[in-house]
Amino acid sequence: MKLFCVLGIESSCDDTGAAVIRSDGTILGESLASQHAIHEQFGGVVPGLAKDAHEENIDRVINTALQRANMSMEDVDAIGVTVGPGLEICLRVGCNRGRELAMKYNKPFVGVHHLEAHILMARIPPVKHDNNGGEQSATYDEIVQSSGDRAMDFPFLALLVSGGHCQILKCLGIGRYAIVGGTLDDSLGEAFDKIARLLGLPVGGGGGPAVEALSLDGDPHSVALPIPMQRRKDCDFSYAGLKTSVRMAAERMCVERGVESPERLRYEDKANIAASFQHVAFRHVEIRLGRAMELVEKEDGIRTLAVVGGVAANKELRRRLNALCSDRIEPWEMLVPPPRLCTDQGAMSAWAAVERLSVGSSDLAEDQEVFARYPFSVSLNDAS
Ligand code: KG4
Ligand code: ZN
Repeated sequence: MKLFCVLGIESSCDDTGAAVIRSDGTILGESLASQHAIHEQFGGVVPGLAKDAHEENIDRVINTALQRANMSMEDVDAIGVTVGPGLEICLRVGCNRGRELAMKYNKPFVGVHHLEAHILMARIPPVKHDNNGGEQSATYDEIVQSSGDRAMDFPFLALLVSGGHCQILKCLGIGRYAIVGGTLDDSLGEAFDKIARLLGLPVGGGGGPAVEALSLDGDPHSVALPIPMQRRKDCDFSYAGLKTSVRMAAERMCVERGVESPERLRYEDKANIAASFQHVAFRHVEIRLGRAMELVEKEDGIRTLAVVGGVAANKELRRRLNALCSDRIEPWEMLVPPPRLCTDQGAMSAWAAVERLSVGSSDLAEDQEVFARYPFSVSLNDAS
């Protein structure tokens, strides 16, 4: 199979990302402009400021990714841009630039679905992902072996846990995803962000990493918290109640310690709250996902799991889900992208475009819209 290179652009939320990826999965160059410092003081993403920062950074980010790949726009074979779901005014910045470049240089164009891009990162071949200097570290044999190969084949089950989404999906093919479970309220990433804010931890770019780090110093069984939806025997999630239970437990601790707010609790107390929250939040995942695995194993013979989205960067989640897969009577294979490819960045859009182009699917740059909401599942009836 002939190798080709795609420039990917991502601007759906608070980071501006671009990357050039080769169709064998080698990232030739990438660049990411983080907006953490801008949004930190507001405790969450401010859409207007995010859009301004995307506009300010987009050209530099694209040019840096190209430079690191040792390429110019002429050398790129196609362009992939995230077009939804996400913040509309932010999506438009990346989409407009991608369209302009595709039209100016007459390149094939792919409007990328952000959730599909997260999922497809699990299929990226395990060749040198970190080839970020423009040098090609894969040997010719490796390239030939890996071209066309994917880390995992369809069908597989995916757990998508990010700031905006919390879903279990049966992945049947490019553009063919059936939702097995979703969240009734908050996403898992959102729950991490809210607990980080409650405890006064840094939340720029998401509070998850700060909660994870603090949890390492806490006892996960020290604060009793209820596991959500114990009686509901389906594959859906709910994190709003857990967040309230954590807040109430933290407030009780404040009274005991004679401090005004959870932010002012001692480090050990905060660590215990964080660790207990993380433990129960992941227990909820294990239960819902375990049920979904049971279901698709029986119905479809699926025995492969992809864990994707920002929260998949969490080491404890990776460890626990790894155990969930290997402890089954018939063990499952689990694939998780490297942590830095779990959170939003340009390689996602580039790789999703490689996948779409590989099955002969692309879009018309001139007509491309952006979609703040962008459902992408097929119904379960069509899915078999
Ligand atoms: O996929 P992503 O970068 O953006 C969305 O599409 O939403 O995910 C961001 C989310 C944030 O809620 C962030 O707190 C969470 O992923 N996250 C983590 C970790 N790293 C990022 N949550 C828990 N542990 C982490 N290590
Ligand atoms: Zn994302």
